[in-house]
Amino acid sequence: NIQSPFELVLFGGLGDLAQRKLLPALYLLYRDGRLPEGRIISITRQALDHKAFLDVVRSALRTHVSSEYLEEKTWQEFSALLSCLTMDISDLAQYQILKAMLAPVDVNRMCYLATGSDLYTPVCRGLEEAGLIGDNTRVVLEKPIGHDLESARAINESVGQFFPESRIFRIDHYLGKETVQNLLVLRFANSLFESQWNQHFIDHIEITIAESLGVEKRAGFYEQVGAMRDMFQNHLLQLLCIVAMEPPARLETDAVRDEKVKVLKALKPIVGDAINRNVVRGQYDAGVSEGKPVPPYRDEPGVHHKSNTETFVAARVEIENWRWAGVPFYLRTGKRLAERACEIVVTFKEIPHSIFPLQHKSTMANRLVFRLQPDEGVRLMLCEKRVGPGMSVRPMNLSLNPANHRKARVPEAYERLLFDALSGNATLFLRNDELLEAWRWVDPILEHWKEVDLRPEPYTAGTWGPAASTLLLARDGRLWVENS
Ligand code: BG6
Repeated sequence: NIQSPFELVLFGGLGDLAQRKLLPALYLLYRDGRLPEGRIISITRQALDHKAFLDVVRSALRTHVSSEYLEEKTWQEFSALLSCLTMDISDLAQYQILKAMLAPVDVNRMCYLATGSDLYTPVCRGLEEAGLIGDNTRVVLEKPIGHDLESARAINESVGQFFPESRIFRIDHYLGKETVQNLLVLRFANSLFESQWNQHFIDHIEITIAESLGVEKRAGFYEQVGAMRDMFQNHLLQLLCIVAMEPPARLETDAVRDEKVKVLKALKPIVGDAINRNVVRGQYDAGVSEGKPVPPYRDEPGVHHKSNTETFVAARVEIENWRWAGVPFYLRTGKRLAERACEIVVTFKEIPHSIFPLQHKSTMANRLVFRLQPDEGVRLMLCEKRVGPGMSVRPMNLSLNPANHRKARVPEAYERLLFDALSGNATLFLRNDELLEAWRWVDPILEHWKEVDLRPEPYTAGTWGPAASTLLLARDGRLWVENS
């Protein structure tokens, strides 16, 4: 549980992330009675008085929280926890103003850095010099942490001068999603799946994080990062770790992280010529998304008209260990794709010999699909007899989500992770070596792209990405699942 009273200092306190995810998650935690007595202090850049600040938060909640959970009474109580402070977070002297607002240093304090990672060191230094870091103070760092291996290492080292590793929480919100938790349970609470979870039985695994949104109002940020740093280096590789890791001995912070690091270390490096063969880089062009015409990425406000930033990445990845040798993992993510969908699709090997008249044998391999969003669920594709005369076989989907599960509100990823961080549980947060291993694998690809500096392959907005992404699987005689 969260030690009371808590104090949450939110740097980037009215930024995009705070408005879309953090404040709504805190509101919902409060509504569920899971936030004890405490305070939330939003640090903002633009000056605004208390009333104007509350107006912004309220309107963010109206936009990002379902109206069925918005009650006047809850809002009144929740808003009593909120305050804001306008300060220049790169100016050390201004931390004295923050200090004057805060409780003594031994309080359960969490400093959430929802800012660019170039500000992590100055903020930690400001906190330290003002005497705001006590034994009970934790820091949460948003991704992407750094822009390559070297900068990530430098940030790890400098933040490490102010906080011990046990109090540094590197967040990746995909680890807080309900289906990811369920994946852990399905894998490690059922002997049925775990005994099949290896190269003897699994043909290949696909992980897709598709977004229908474009770059929205975040061009300033996105132009610097692109899809590889924004989604692949973190969310996709983390999902890969959860799918592929060995069973941890215990559900304990370092036991889980140790297994995830081993997966990252076993990733086959993609370097040199292998990059063009195994990694696809795309950028959306004009098209139709959710029924509306949309401009090309290069015409989005804030994007350079000759930008070579990628909005799509797909890669064929291998894990070099006994469990996974020879099993390809196909990972992809992109903006302005055909729909918003995040799925992990595990395709099992085909039966060695069929005694039935199978017309489309390739569609008959068993599949286990974990859908993370927009609707959570797990389904298992099996074969059954087509009702009627003869013996024809057809695929059927077995939903592993009993209807009563859906009645409960599915908590947002940030709710779980904020709760965990406020209560000091770091299991779902990245350790320093995990972060570095992920960058180590991604770095040669980023370097190669920087050297060649070519426009990524264009794809029409509202489709499933560039043709090369289809070819990536076609070369292996496969199709992405939505094409099959
Ligand atoms: C963030 C990225 O980490 O994840 C965004 O910075 C992306 O670009 C977002 O839109 C997607 O998160 P979710 O939970 O909506 O799939």
